[in-house]
Amino acid sequence: MDGPREGTVLVTGGAGYIGAILTERLLDRGYNVRVLDRLYWGEGPLERIRDRIELVVADVRDIPREALEGVDGVIHLAGLSNDPTAEYDPEANWQMNAVATEALGRACVEHGIERVVFSSSCSLYDGLPPGMHDETAPVQPRGAYSTSKHYGEKALLELQDQGLCPVILRNGTVYGYSPRMRFDLVVNTFVKDSLVQGRLLLHGGGWMWRPLVDVRDVSDAMVAAYEAPDHLVKGEIFNVLHSNYQIRELAMLVAGSAQLVGVTVSLEEAPAPKLTRDYECSNAKLSARLGFIPRRSVVEAVSDLLSEIDIKDRAQLTDPRYYNIRWLQLLHEVQPRIEEFGSVL
Ligand SMILES: NC(=O)c1ccc[n+]([C@@H]2O[C@H](COP(=O)([O-])OP(=O)(O)OC[C@H]3O[C@@H](n4cnc5c(N)ncnc54)[C@H](O)[C@@H]3O)[C@@H](O)[C@H]2O)c1
Repeated sequence: MDGPREGTVLVTGGAGYIGAILTERLLDRGYNVRVLDRLYWGEGPLERIRDRIELVVADVRDIPREALEGVDGVIHLAGLSNDPTAEYDPEANWQMNAVATEALGRACVEHGIERVVFSSSCSLYDGLPPGMHDETAPVQPRGAYSTSKHYGEKALLELQDQGLCPVILRNGTVYGYSPRMRFDLVVNTFVKDSLVQGRLLLHGGGWMWRPLVDVRDVSDAMVAAYEAPDHLVKGEIFNVLHSNYQIRELAMLVAGSAQLVGVTVSLEEAPAPKLTRDYECSNAKLSARLGFIPRRSVVEAVSDLLSEIDIKDRAQLTDPRYYNIRWLQLLHEVQPRIEEFGSVL
């Protein structure tokens, strides 16, 4: 059977960095979109489309039954979305990224929902020997984040024989503009540092490799995975990336782009951090199987970012809301107020 091409899509985490773009893409293709999100970063990212979507403010650890009623398929993004937040609260990370993903898969089976696209991560390849890795690589994740993503993948894949059609997308590190910005992702961080400090630090020389993808391309890959016929995607894992880049190369691309808009940026080598992430992977399967090729390069995305960001208002770039770990720490600091008032957002 073909994947769903109409009806209602539930997007968990739809108010986040990727989700805010993805929901717009789905609306443009004619879907009804229901977003389930606990709104860590508020409702602002959905402002442009708020009157065109259904919003369920809820936690993926406790999904209300009604949220799945009338749903034709799910694109699952909700959870802690990077290493620092996962290491900050490993138990919450495990419950959100691993346990809740498995429970969501089971709930889909109960509701007769077949297609579930899961936003996993290329960081699962970290720790493997150097070289290009494809989806068959024997991953052995070490950190809290990648371990939980790996568990979520396996839990969904195991539900295939109960009628689920899971599709796993291992996304590279994302770059580009979204109504909900993240400046804690390497390319976006370099753009912010260029504007705020005029200086980019290359830790350990910046020789580490990283697979990267634009936020619009990763959203379109999710739509392609959602719409593809079962026989092409059921139980399959796809890497989603434009290219592999060395961090040093990214710094040079961003500095050169900043120069073009009149911002002078210096590059400096700095000591290596305690933990480095260094891995490369292949996007061949995605293009061979689905004919999908991410198109937006780093330089195109950086050029957009530089025009979207108000250079005169550089102070906005350091708002903790744009940095997942800093925002989560702040939320924890105000936990007593959350309990007293219900919400601080
Ligand atoms: N951004 C990247 O570079 C990248 C790369 C690979 C994979 N991913 C994955 O893609 C997904 C989306 O990432 P993003 O960059 O948009 O992150 P994000 O942090 O901007 O968005 C996550 C969204 O999920 C919501 N959320 C978090 N925990 C929740 C919970 N327990 N219940 C309900 N909602 C919850 C947040 O409020 C937020 O709106 C994540 O699963 C992330 O792990 C992201």
